[in-house]
Amino acid sequence: MRRTKMRRTDPGGITSNQILGIFGTGYAGLVTSVCFAELGHTVTAIDKDHDVVARLSDGTPTIHEPGLQELLTGNLESGRLRFTTKAEDAVVGSDIVFLCVGTPPRADGRADLCQVEEVARTIAPLLDGYKLIVEKSTVPARTAYWVDWTIRRLAGPNREFDVASNPEFLREGTAVQDFLKPDRIVIGADTERARSRLLDLYRKGFHCPIVATSVTTAELIKQTANAFLATKISFINMVSDLCEELGVDVATVARGVGLDPRIGSHFLNAGLGFGGSCLPKDLNALITVAEDNGVDVAMLREVERINTARVERLLAKVDRALWVLPQKVIGVLGVAFKQDTDDIRGAPSLGIIPRLHSAGAIVRVYDPAAAQNIQKLYPPNDRLAYVASAVEAARGADALVILTDWDEFRSLDLGGIRSLMRTPIIVDGRNLFEPARMRAAGFEYHSLGRGEATLRTVPRRVPV
Ligand SMILES: NC(=O)c1ccc[n+]([C@@H]2O[C@H](COP(=O)([O-])OP(=O)(O)OC[C@H]3O[C@@H](n4cnc5c(N)ncnc54)[C@H](O)[C@@H]3O)[C@@H](O)[C@H]2O)c1
Repeated sequence: MRRTKMRRTDPGGITSNQILGIFGTGYAGLVTSVCFAELGHTVTAIDKDHDVVARLSDGTPTIHEPGLQELLTGNLESGRLRFTTKAEDAVVGSDIVFLCVGTPPRADGRADLCQVEEVARTIAPLLDGYKLIVEKSTVPARTAYWVDWTIRRLAGPNREFDVASNPEFLREGTAVQDFLKPDRIVIGADTERARSRLLDLYRKGFHCPIVATSVTTAELIKQTANAFLATKISFINMVSDLCEELGVDVATVARGVGLDPRIGSHFLNAGLGFGGSCLPKDLNALITVAEDNGVDVAMLREVERINTARVERLLAKVDRALWVLPQKVIGVLGVAFKQDTDDIRGAPSLGIIPRLHSAGAIVRVYDPAAAQNIQKLYPPNDRLAYVASAVEAARGADALVILTDWDEFRSLDLGGIRSLMRTPIIVDGRNLFEPARMRAAGFEYHSLGRGEATLRTVPRRVPV
């Protein structure tokens, strides 16, 4: 499968395509691969997982991501995209090699860079002329230094290459749109040659600001962005707890605050907190980098502590609503860390489902896309079942617990659901409904930070 250099003009206006090798076909790598192919580039994507490569080569997406199927099929058919397990197919003859492999958290909170290091070792002996090697994986600042060091050590002195950073800001659930229409592109390069190659790659087809900077700066931008997003969420969740005490609705507070353009309304949704494969891990990795460098990041540790406490807060609400849990039937709606993805990494459901189960509840779980993934971690048993719909989860339930903000849950037939439940109790970790509407629909409805007190209804509390 050796690639011959072939440049052409595509209908989308790209005057010259690039030949790209992409390591890793997970959430970031697969979207990167199909989107660059869609933009007219010739892409060889490599994964070490043979099953994943076989399915993708067959046109079957291995992740749930809106819009992915069409781009995968179209670009396989056009011949601009192919998948392989052989590293040389992706490296030999390519202009740019992207690293999109995983950087999962280690037990001590640091990023595990084994996959990145393995790719560096793999690429080194395959270099055939100048090669631009680009980190797209999210990595701690100065990782590129070690990638460069590893390749230089193993490739010998005459190999020509640069290591650059081009962090990826796509969000699962809207990843294809985010990739094709980003709000900014960050290019970190320490040589003119690397910078101009990357600028060239992004010159056509993208209409957003490009931040061209040093490699280490680019690495830090990505982790700082995720730490800031995490901070916003923990901040509003802290306010949410105060809202509950004061009888105030946090959603209204967030709206009143977020309309200030200096603050912005995004990521001000109170609820169960942040999860997923990026925010918790990138926050943690930034904390460890900072502490290693003697910088006080107690504020970020607090962001993390507030987030972890959200799961306890929700479980306390379930306890209070049901009093005793053994033999109570609890329908769980949603296990993905957010809507429109099947990703459960870092999802609050991973903390909540085993706790409900070990407390003796009979748990019935429904998720439109992620049930298969969670079943691998928690196989069904006599008190844990995976059902095919929200209606099935609600049938005979003593309570429904909402853990993911799927649109499907927002548009449930509430009357139908209520009539199926043994007791119409909903504990909503995502604040999907208006409390007044839920009461009117006959539910006992618990959400997070949604007080509705007026001056006449709030008991006066004497400060002590
Ligand atoms: N998931 C996201 O939304 C997202 C967004 C932006 C950035 N990122 C970053 O992108 C990186 C990848 O994230 P992901 O969610 O796609 O991870 P992932 O775990 O879904 O995918 C990683 C893939 O790399 C493959 N792989 C591992 N070692 C390999 C090797 N030596 N050669 C070839 N393939 C190899 C694995 O088999 C796997 O398919 C991470 O650093 C992540 O932080 C992810």
